[in-house]
Amino acid sequence: MRIGNVKIPGNILLAPMSNVTNLPFRLMCKKYGASMTYTEMISSDAVIYENTKTFNRGKSSEAERPFGIQVFGNDPQVISRAAHTIEENYHPDIIDLNCGCPAKLLTKDGFGSALLRSPELIHSIIRELSGTVSAPVTAKIRILEDMEKTLEIARLIEDAGASALTVHGRTRQQQYSGMADMEYAKRIREELSIPVIVNGDIVDEKSAEHALEYTCCDGIMIGRAAMGNPFLFKRISHYLDTGEMLEYDECMQRVKDIREYFRLLEECGLMETINVRAHAQWFTRGIRNGRHIRNRIAEAHDVDEIILQVEKMCGGQ
Ligand SMILES: Cc1cc2nc3c(=O)[nH]c(=O)nc-3n(C[C@H](O)[C@H](O)[C@H](O)COP(=O)(O)O)c2cc1C
Repeated sequence: MRIGNVKIPGNILLAPMSNVTNLPFRLMCKKYGASMTYTEMISSDAVIYENTKTFNRGKSSEAERPFGIQVFGNDPQVISRAAHTIEENYHPDIIDLNCGCPAKLLTKDGFGSALLRSPELIHSIIRELSGTVSAPVTAKIRILEDMEKTLEIARLIEDAGASALTVHGRTRQQQYSGMADMEYAKRIREELSIPVIVNGDIVDEKSAEHALEYTCCDGIMIGRAAMGNPFLFKRISHYLDTGEMLEYDECMQRVKDIREYFRLLEECGLMETINVRAHAQWFTRGIRNGRHIRNRIAEAHDVDEIILQVEKMCGGQ
């Protein structure tokens, strides 16, 4: 797939996730076969007013390329100025506009999915952004209940100069309830000429295959199922390439991955910035004894003890 002039070496993307997709995690997803990664969203206001903590979310490394940086806001000039600063500092391959976050913290100020109420504003933002930054601009939307209105927004985004569009098949009101509706991504794919990426409830090999086949989209984007499970990208890419399920020891894999994740967090100086217990717990979802391990993690005093508990419960390494 190509997004603007950027070649994406595959069609399985990691979703932007606040407090999840930090650089170490993205590097692991990349290593296991994610074709492209997105940073956590960055507030355009924060960039302009130099809030370094948020701004640091844009940090990457050559090993991650191609990667996108996601921004949010609702003022075309502020977003463009922020994206320009981001581009000068972090040189992302792609700049993405968040039109999907349903969190009150954003929507109360008209950001994220609140933008979907003002399609003309989305158009102005994308137009201004595309004229300001040299990286291709993409957008990520949720759907509206009304198919026609959703298609209209998708058309406006393309018309404004976006180079790709990601569609999460839930409305803002749904938050994360119910199942994502892939019909919207399918219809948008039929309408637009730019790459369309389908997102929502892709959790394993079969759902990945189904999403691609059903929607005919150019790519799939995976969010929650990858939390604590970056190896999922290897499983899915292996299956899509060969039609075979990858055989591996789930428990051992998670122990190996959590160790590597914590090592990378130390290396990048990010250990203090995350909730270590929460992140560790994600690595134990879906494995045998998971609940016991999570209880032990909750009681652990430090990272070494967390790793020890995970190893013990998984039968050691
Ligand atoms: C913890 C968390 C944080 C998220 N942060 C962002 C974000 O910063 N930007 C964004 O566009 N979407 C964000 N999302 C939404 C995901 O990118 C994705 O659209 C959604 O989770 C549906 O995909 P999934 O079913 O594969 O998880 C977030 C989701 C979760 C669970």
